Amino acid sequence: MNILVTGGAGYIGSHTCVELLEAGYNVTVVDNLSGSSRKAVERVENITGKNISFYEADICDKNTLFDIFDREKADAVIHFAALKSIPDSVARPLEYYNNNVTGTINICEAMKKFGVSKIVLSSSAAVYGKTTELPVKESSPLLPVNPYGRTKLIQEQIICDFCGSINGASVILRYFNPVGAHKSGLIGEDPKGTPSNLVPYISQVACGRLKQLNIYGDDYETPDGTGVRDYIHVVDVAKGHIKAIEKLNHEKSGNFIFNIGTGKGYSVIEMMKSFEKASGKNIDFVFSSRREGDVDACYADVSLAQRELGWKAEYGIDDMCSDAWKWQKLNPEGYR
Ligand code: NAD
Ligand code: WQD
Repeated sequence: MNILVTGGAGYIGSHTCVELLEAGYNVTVVDNLSGSSRKAVERVENITGKNISFYEADICDKNTLFDIFDREKADAVIHFAALKSIPDSVARPLEYYNNNVTGTINICEAMKKFGVSKIVLSSSAAVYGKTTELPVKESSPLLPVNPYGRTKLIQEQIICDFCGSINGASVILRYFNPVGAHKSGLIGEDPKGTPSNLVPYISQVACGRLKQLNIYGDDYETPDGTGVRDYIHVVDVAKGHIKAIEKLNHEKSGNFIFNIGTGKGYSVIEMMKSFEKASGKNIDFVFSSRREGDVDACYADVSLAQRELGWKAEYGIDDMCSDAWKWQKLNPEGYR
């Protein structure tokens, strides 16, 4: 079975390619490398001893995308390719709408033209926005609070409408906070510029690239006053995609939406302490003001994925932090 993976050179995409290849799937990657490196694909090939059919191409370029679909005869698509920085999306919303929304429409058009009727979409907890219901269920209100989150919700709607129109099937995975790296230390998260997410920031403080962690807020309604999130090991996230593909092999049509988290919340301070233990380094930090748009706590109800996908996270925060640290230590400048 051939899986066409958009954004397969990226953080979650590269980890998913490892799991796909190890499970015996053939993999085609389409990535314009705007947020990643060709090296990630080479390292996936090194880890698995298998080849990837790689195209450096932009999914917004419809003609090139059609050529790739024509040549590769995909059985299903996993669609990761997107821009994903929340602050960036506030500064450059049109770029985000163009890339994430137009790109998704092009993928659907290519699927229609070449008779592909199964797709897995990367969505995000960002579609829930200012959550009041905890744990967050798939049926919780969808009120994204930034352009990035809105592009993710629009992507979901496009995919559902499209699959409805062709009698196809989709699995939409709403990831919470993916962190960590592959056990080999060969692939991991490599943000461009200063990281905005917590674990990459802590990692760069631990290895001396950044001076000090700013903890955004110490007066949240949480046990220690710092924000609580549902961190999930990226390898668990990747494995969720194998279950999603298996689900699509059983279901001919319909749209299926799942939260992908552990169901447990940890605070910024708990993550920092766990990272200190894993790395043996002290993380210098200072409390600063709350970051706009942040909520007190956000963690998933993961019972639906467990029941309907047969998927459950296996790793805890100690693995997340020690694997993130191994990647950072072996690759202090990322793939550069
Ligand atoms: P990433 O930036 O590492 O990977 C995205 C990949 O898509 C990159 O390799 C980039 O080069 C590629 N890409 C972007 N626009 C493209 C285009 N127009 N054409 C071709 N390739 C393009 O990000 P990630 O963390 O691996 O995220 C993957 C997906 O998961 C995204 O859709 C993101 O919105 C979603 N997601 C990520 C997180 C997270 O915290 N990392 C959480 C929830 C959802
Ligand atoms: C986690 C916690 C911060 C950085 C976003 C998206 C989500 C997903 C992951 C894409 C919060 C605190 C952070 C720092 C800090 N992405 N923090 N100092 O905001 O929960 O989730 O990224 O889809 O959908 O919404 O993740 O890692 O930025 O923050 O104190 O330097 O760490 O305030 O409590 P977030 P995060």
